[in-house]
Amino acid sequence: MDIKPFLSDIELELQRQVARLDKPHTRLFYEMLTYHMGWTGEGAGPEATGKRIRPLMVLLTASACGTDWRPALPAAAAVELVHNFSLVHDDIQDNSPKRRGRDTVWVKWGAPMAINVGDALFVMSNQAIIDLKKTYPAETVMKAAEILHNTCLDLTSGQFLDMSYEERTDLKVEDYWPMISGKTAALLSACCRIGAVLGGADEEKEEVYRSYGHYLGLAFQVQDDILGIWGDEKVTGKSAASDLVEGKNSLPVLIGLGKKRKFAERWAKGSIQAEEVDEIARLLASEGGYGEAKEVSIQMTDMAINSLREADPQGEAGEALFELTNKLLNRDQ
Ligand code: IPE
Ligand code: IPE
Ligand code: MG
Ligand code: MG
Repeated sequence: MDIKPFLSDIELELQRQVARLDKPHTRLFYEMLTYHMGWTGEGAGPEATGKRIRPLMVLLTASACGTDWRPALPAAAAVELVHNFSLVHDDIQDNSPKRRGRDTVWVKWGAPMAINVGDALFVMSNQAIIDLKKTYPAETVMKAAEILHNTCLDLTSGQFLDMSYEERTDLKVEDYWPMISGKTAALLSACCRIGAVLGGADEEKEEVYRSYGHYLGLAFQVQDDILGIWGDEKVTGKSAASDLVEGKNSLPVLIGLGKKRKFAERWAKGSIQAEEVDEIARLLASEGGYGEAKEVSIQMTDMAINSLREADPQGEAGEALFELTNKLLNRDQ
């Protein structure tokens, strides 16, 4: 299926939502937002917008439930705005200088301004979801908004765990799941669930789509963790060194710590310097950190595919969901 019409309509709807801030006295503020969204400034263009996976999930799910996806566009914009608010704040929290191949908002304009940019994107996500009222009954809009709001709280709880884990030396693989369920899987599962709600699915189907998005989100974050250590910076658009340097307890690291071998010994000695990153990444891979994490992402993708089969998505959109699920597992950005 050609997903280009979805992607171009997503972009138009996002631009319409963000234009709420297009006011003469705060031109630079608007520019900060359009820069982050990938539309303006140095390096603007398709590479700078990100993959737009989350809005795509909303629209494909609504369509796979047998309904027209166009009325669901405000919800698609809403989830992408939530994602982008979280990225702007996450780059401050993680001290990350690069995002989608460009300087992050906090690097360009400072952390105080970047916090404000994230806040604006967050508010716009709430405004966007309310825009569903043009085409859906109030009850449906309330339900979609409730899912989105609950998800934002899960997301911040996941971010809390992620940051608090940086100080911890006693973590196990079991501690990883609640963290990524919150920071990543909550939003992906909300996308599929909102798509199902707007597609008129019954509660049983809505639950199966929620579960599909959840496992997809887990697989997605495990792959992000792998790319965060062994990815190519030119392709991911993010610094490959930063997860190890920031002391992130990502899945490969927790697997490595569990082995109690050379990697664990080095990790216990304190922070990793940028110049050691290549060597430590090789060491971690040789002790199973890469291969076992990859195995986990395959398992999570299988779980996602099982839920998707159960949801029985219809038509070309249904096929596209299967395709996308497998593609995300093998993505390099
Ligand atoms: C990055 O998400 C953050 C995670 C939750 C892993 P994406 O990989 O979807 O980022 P973009 O939007 O395509 O840049
Ligand atoms: C992803 O966080 C989740 C959120 C941004 C809420 P990460 O810190 O793991 O993602 P990247 O690698 O910076 O995109
Ligand atoms: Mg983070
Ligand atoms: Mg980050």
